[in-house]
Amino acid sequence: MGKFFINGGKALQGEVVLDCAKNSLLPILAGCILVDGKVKLLSVPKYSDVIAMCDILENLGAKVCWLADDLLLDCSCIDKSVICHELASPVRSSVFTLGPLLARLGKAKVAYPGGCDIGLRPIDIHLSSLKQLGCKIIEKNGYIYGEKGDNGNQSVVLKFASVGATENIMMFATLLPGKTQIFNAAKEPEIVDLACFLNKCGACIKGAGSDVITIDGVQSLSGCEYLAIPDRIECGTFLIGAAMTHGQICIKNAIEKHNEVLIEKLKSCGCKIFSDQNGLHLSSPKTLESFGDVETAVYPGFPTDLQPQIVALACVCNGCSLIFENVFESRFNYVGELLKLGGDVKFKSSVCIVRGRKKLYGADVFATDLRGGAALVLAGLASEGYTTVNKIEYIDRGYYNLAEKLTKLGADIKRL
Ligand code: EPZ
Repeated sequence: MGKFFINGGKALQGEVVLDCAKNSLLPILAGCILVDGKVKLLSVPKYSDVIAMCDILENLGAKVCWLADDLLLDCSCIDKSVICHELASPVRSSVFTLGPLLARLGKAKVAYPGGCDIGLRPIDIHLSSLKQLGCKIIEKNGYIYGEKGDNGNQSVVLKFASVGATENIMMFATLLPGKTQIFNAAKEPEIVDLACFLNKCGACIKGAGSDVITIDGVQSLSGCEYLAIPDRIECGTFLIGAAMTHGQICIKNAIEKHNEVLIEKLKSCGCKIFSDQNGLHLSSPKTLESFGDVETAVYPGFPTDLQPQIVALACVCNGCSLIFENVFESRFNYVGELLKLGGDVKFKSSVCIVRGRKKLYGADVFATDLRGGAALVLAGLASEGYTTVNKIEYIDRGYYNLAEKLTKLGADIKRL
């Protein structure tokens, strides 16, 4: 069980470069199943979820190898369509293999996915959409059995703009003859990134980033070289960390547009934020005012993946803040740990109320999930005294070299 040992109270200062987006790389890795050729993904951070997806692909018969920070994959000889519980249950993104396996091999047997404990996380939209597109889907003994049919309709309407379901269906339709349309599609930047990757491999996908995506099926996909977009959640995490520690940072490769709503909230707290040719700059005032309230929503709304981090920020702002979690039904499991650091936080169902405090004080805390764990690190950095964040394997799912990056920014943090 890894831990971070933090001596808080130091301002984050300096420059940082974002890694490639975890939530782009995971569906892109699943998308490699569609590709009858070699793929080279550039500058891939060794997130533990990425490693888990590589294990899944290798188990299907793909060749996977690292060349320094680049990841080389060859799925041309994929011959298995079964993903066992041991490989599927550690990650949510294992379910993203369903569409590609059905498209490429015509059948699939995939155990239920896992993922952070932030709600029930059903996969009904994935499965009902695949059925609408003609697939035979049976759920039995903890597995999803699928078979590609040939008389599906050519459009699906998602009852909720699910990121994963949009990605799964988009990948399935890539090799489906004819035109397929996805209505009420998710619009996250990672969806656009996946479509760009697939189109670079020869797919014909239009409308990604809007709520109607049109896919013209092609015979096959060939390999390509691809660099995924910078991770907007890592970006938001660093922006909030700099704000909480009254620091001053420059994020070299940030895409400002991907964090528009957060940037507005941070400006309302008193931070100065601007972009120039060097990157996205934030400088934080000596005292922070509360941002008031924030509601998580699908993109371009405030991202649910930054909800724990902005609750941590609210703990050190003057005044009262209200945070509404509208995407997942139980994404406040980390709050109990924030209380140990002196946060004045209450929540009831999907609403969280925070009364800002002058100071937080270091304590021994335990990560409950990926983004809740990140929020505890930020709170530890802003606390007076020593904080130990335990169970950091949750954090390793979506942050690579976090302690090294924070140390370069002036934090006193060690990985034990
Ligand atoms: C993706 O999860 C991300 N994970 C999540 O990031 C992110 O929080 C989420 O999208 C929302 O942006 C990856 O991309 C690997 P959803 P996903 O399907 O696809 C419900 C992180 O911290 N739903 O958009 O699972 C679901 O229960 C992780 O990096 C159904 O009801 O998210 C949830 O309430 C956490 N039925 C809501 O929709 C379904 O079939 C959003 O889920 C699918 C989803």
